[in-house]
Amino acid sequence: MDFSAQKKNAAAAALEHIENGVSGLGIGTGSTVNELIAMLPQYKDRIETVVSSSEASTQLLQQYGFEVSELNDVGSLELYIDGADEVTKHFDLLKGGGGALTREKILAGAARKFICIADESKLVGMLGSFPLPIEVIPMARSFVGRQSIKMRGQPFWREGYITDNGNEIIDIHNLSIVNPKEMESRLNQIPGVVTVGLFAHRGADVLIIGDATGAKTFQN
Ligand code: A5P
Repeated sequence: MDFSAQKKNAAAAALEHIENGVSGLGIGTGSTVNELIAMLPQYKDRIETVVSSSEASTQLLQQYGFEVSELNDVGSLELYIDGADEVTKHFDLLKGGGGALTREKILAGAARKFICIADESKLVGMLGSFPLPIEVIPMARSFVGRQSIKMRGQPFWREGYITDNGNEIIDIHNLSIVNPKEMESRLNQIPGVVTVGLFAHRGADVLIIGDATGAKTFQN
């Protein structure tokens, strides 16, 4: 099924949070966010600073005429908007399918408000059907994979893929993520883990789910 209309509708609904002006705006990564980036130029004069979560989004933002700033030069962000691979009505997210999870988590952490935009296919009762991405220091890849097996996961190396930070990704299949916060903390403890694609400790503040005719907004 093609969810592009739903992605567009979710992105359009997020614009309402920008139309009155934003000082620092963080931009996520992925096809849903790409729809948002394409709509952003109409509000260019109301956005003071833009920070990006990936080289891919930076390139696209620049194509649309935005100057992209470094987070170090901006301080905190007023708003961060990003997609997700899975979302729950408890505002927990699973992210990193596009490999940008580390910078995404940094921007989410630095933002006063985090809006997640997604199509209906992303809304799940429990996270984990989508394999959980973990960014690892390359020399720790096998070690982290073996540790995940102890947690009943099945690790797969995203072979040949190098993140914007020079690290590697393993995707953990079949994890039973009953308690996302606990799972995020446990995986974060493994030496060599850079970032776990669970966004539960810092989940979304606002969830916008696009559908065929518009979008539904949920506030945390
Ligand atoms: C990127 O690393 C991911 O976290 C994306 O946010 C996620 O994969 C959503 O992408 P789509 O909007 O393309 O589904």
